[in-house]
Amino acid sequence: MDRKKLELTALYEVSKILGSSLDLNNTLKNVMKTLSVFLDMQRGTVALKADGGIEMKAAHGLTASEIKLGKYKLGEGIIGRVAKSGYPVVIPNVGKEPLFLNKTGARKGISKDNIAFLCVPIKYGNEVLGVLSVDRLFSSENISFEEDLRILKIIATLISQTVKLYRQVEQEKEELISERDELKRELKGKYRVENIIGSSDRMLEVFEAVHRVAPSKATVLLRGESGTGKELVAKAIHYTGPRARQAFIKFNCAAVPEGLLESELFGHEKGAFTGAVATKRGRFELADKGSIFLDEIGDLPIGLQAKVLRILQERELERVGGEKTIKVDIRIIAATSRDLEALLSVNTFREDLYYRLNVVPLVLPPLRDRKDDIPELAEFFLKKYNEENAKRVDISTTVLKKLMEYHWPGNVRELENTMERLVVMSKGSTISLADLPVNPILKESFKKGSLTGYIEDTERENIIAALEKTDWVHAKAARLLGLTPRQIGYKIKKYGIVKQIAS
Ligand SMILES: Nc1ncnc2c1ncn2[C@@H]1O[C@H](COP(=O)(O)OP(=O)(O)OP(=O)(O)O)[C@@H](O)[C@H]1O
Ligand SMILES: [Mg+2]
Repeated sequence: MDRKKLELTALYEVSKILGSSLDLNNTLKNVMKTLSVFLDMQRGTVALKADGGIEMKAAHGLTASEIKLGKYKLGEGIIGRVAKSGYPVVIPNVGKEPLFLNKTGARKGISKDNIAFLCVPIKYGNEVLGVLSVDRLFSSENISFEEDLRILKIIATLISQTVKLYRQVEQEKEELISERDELKRELKGKYRVENIIGSSDRMLEVFEAVHRVAPSKATVLLRGESGTGKELVAKAIHYTGPRARQAFIKFNCAAVPEGLLESELFGHEKGAFTGAVATKRGRFELADKGSIFLDEIGDLPIGLQAKVLRILQERELERVGGEKTIKVDIRIIAATSRDLEALLSVNTFREDLYYRLNVVPLVLPPLRDRKDDIPELAEFFLKKYNEENAKRVDISTTVLKKLMEYHWPGNVRELENTMERLVVMSKGSTISLADLPVNPILKESFKKGSLTGYIEDTERENIIAALEKTDWVHAKAARLLGLTPRQIGYKIKKYGIVKQIAS
């Protein structure tokens, strides 16, 4: 092939390569390789301006570490000069040129007497983006560098367009990313709900939903495993909404014996039953103008579900033993950790009630699905219990890592309890791995050590104390301890606690 044909083919190949991918360095490397194949140029490099200087980005015939060395100040060496002036430079004989720095250390083994060095600016309009340089081996004296320069300038122009395009895409990408981060931060600030910790996408969605539903009167159904923060979110909905200054009445459907449920919820008239010595307003009435939080709604006995449905539909009720219909203006927030759909299928939960409750379902993700929140939560509880115990305990990163590995079946409540224990039990100023056996994480893999035994004894004593304080009303004792009735029930069974009758 004659030179012209070769040049055309090379240009065609180069333009194809330049359009082929958005991996700039790799693209440039392929261009250099093509040049060497077609135009008998030995080494080739592309350097681009960066950080006030110029850096080699891609090369053919240089090792990766040699490329790394190719950094110049503007005006330094030949590449630096071309970058600064914007004019090409030809060194007909590298061996005789003192300006030639050979910073990269390439061409060490060969005589430099028959190497010419051609260097052209990569320009976009008047702006110098970088420098394209090639080594050309020559054996005889009569080569015209003019022709080489001409083709290199064309190639530099092609490269400049790609670099420019790439930079634009990069810049747009960066702008989009920073815009997204900005929005995320804004959202987080705007929707931050006090005392609810979390920055994971899942929790941001929850915060957003809280703010969207809070202003309305819509019934909200909170779903999620035990300890995921359902009660916390219920309060957030009430206290960020227009009813914030009115009552927030909490009622746990699982904590009250079935026989008392109806009169607790709906109230009773005097004389409605033995013991009804005075008229009593129920929780729904107490919540008038405010919100009622029906916790553990899945445990509501089927016999009462129709009455609750009526409240949801008509916002009216009659007290037990009463004739008068009472209107209430309430916002209803319900919560359950039970599988309501399963209850539907065995007919222990009414379908109509289910649909009435399920107007705005809000699911709280289990902690193991948002492990990113664990460090923030751990710090939050650490601070809380340090303050409560007048301590200044810190946590090591190894422990934090361990906390992040655990699957937290008891979710945030379990993490909170764990942090409290770690703070209370810590001897030094930092919670380290050695402190962890008190933690359920390692309970799984450690044999019951004496420390664990100590913790369990303490827990047992605490439960008995709470029960004694509350006349052995499990639900009340549970509340004192921050446990659910089910949890206290489990622990009472586990520790074999029985009511002590004083003699
Ligand atoms: N995102 C959170 N940030 C801070 N504290 C949290 C968070 N989620 C839960 N907690 C804390 O964890 C404990 C359990 O939360 P909460 O009582 O709201 O859970 P729950 O879903 O109602 O659990 P259960 O179904 O067992 O009643 C509380 O002490 C609460 O303050
Ligand atoms: Mg709860």
